[in-house]
Amino acid sequence: MTTRVEAASDRPAVPTGYGSSYVAHHTPGERSRLGTLEAAFDPATIQALTGLSLPETAVCLELGAGAGSIAAWLATHRPRGHIVATDTDIRFLRFQPGAPVRVLRHDIVTEDFPAASFDLVHARALLCHLPDHDRILERAAHWVRPGGWLVVEDLTVQPVDASPHPILRKITRAGEVLFRTTVGTDLRWAQTLPQRLRGIGLHDVQARTTPGTIGDGGATDAFWTATFEQSLPAHLAAGTLRHEDIEAMRALHRTPGFTDTAVAMVSAWGRRK
Ligand SMILES: C[S@@+](CC[C@H](N)C(=O)[O-])C[C@H]1O[C@@H](n2cnc3c(N)ncnc32)[C@H](O)[C@@H]1O
Repeated sequence: MTTRVEAASDRPAVPTGYGSSYVAHHTPGERSRLGTLEAAFDPATIQALTGLSLPETAVCLELGAGAGSIAAWLATHRPRGHIVATDTDIRFLRFQPGAPVRVLRHDIVTEDFPAASFDLVHARALLCHLPDHDRILERAAHWVRPGGWLVVEDLTVQPVDASPHPILRKITRAGEVLFRTTVGTDLRWAQTLPQRLRGIGLHDVQARTTPGTIGDGGATDAFWTATFEQSLPAHLAAGTLRHEDIEAMRALHRTPGFTDTAVAMVSAWGRRK
């Protein structure tokens, strides 16, 4: 489904990419924001990974590992396995001494792995930020061994379309525009993940969507709040939001009893023949 995005400013810009954006690792608060992402969505990721049949000695690839919680979980649950944790910026990737994790500075857009190297390839909140997701999805599937699993998870802003709160719709759509024009992010493609996994020939495809509830003080609320607050200087500089929009959103968020859903995480996985 495509939805026309409307916001205060939708002027074309050339995306500079993730590493120069307001969510780059050098941004103040980014390590903490990644921690809120992990707390919000690790339970869904772990539930999906736990359901897969992986050998005790599984060789796993964690792409765009961020602050590394899923690589650490894999290391704990497959101590006889081997986990490769990649990112273009590896400063947050620290593991227990002796953990079976190799950290690799690696750009998924430009760098390869040998075909059929891994029992599991996992990427969360990564492909939506990258150009040409379909090509990257195919390459990631190519790195999976026959019988192994590709698990891809990405955020979608689709839930906000049904929000009864105009200011939340405005803020979220402005965030969608800012992510698209500065990073190159597509916050709508996640909805199509299951069909895309089938389209590249994976079988046993399954999917689950985890709503990002906000306003209830829970884990997804903390992630949404951290992302909203961190994006504000970039919004004000780009003209995608004004001070009065920001104050109106904060006031709604503080309103007793307010809850809504602005985003959701789509988790989809399939097996290579
Ligand atoms: C939103 S964070 C998600 C981190 C982690 N996957 C998680 O869900 O907790 C996106 C991560 O992808 C990394 N990244 C961005 N572009 C990349 C690329 N071309 N190749 C590999 N990693 C990349 C970023 O540095 C960042 O750590």
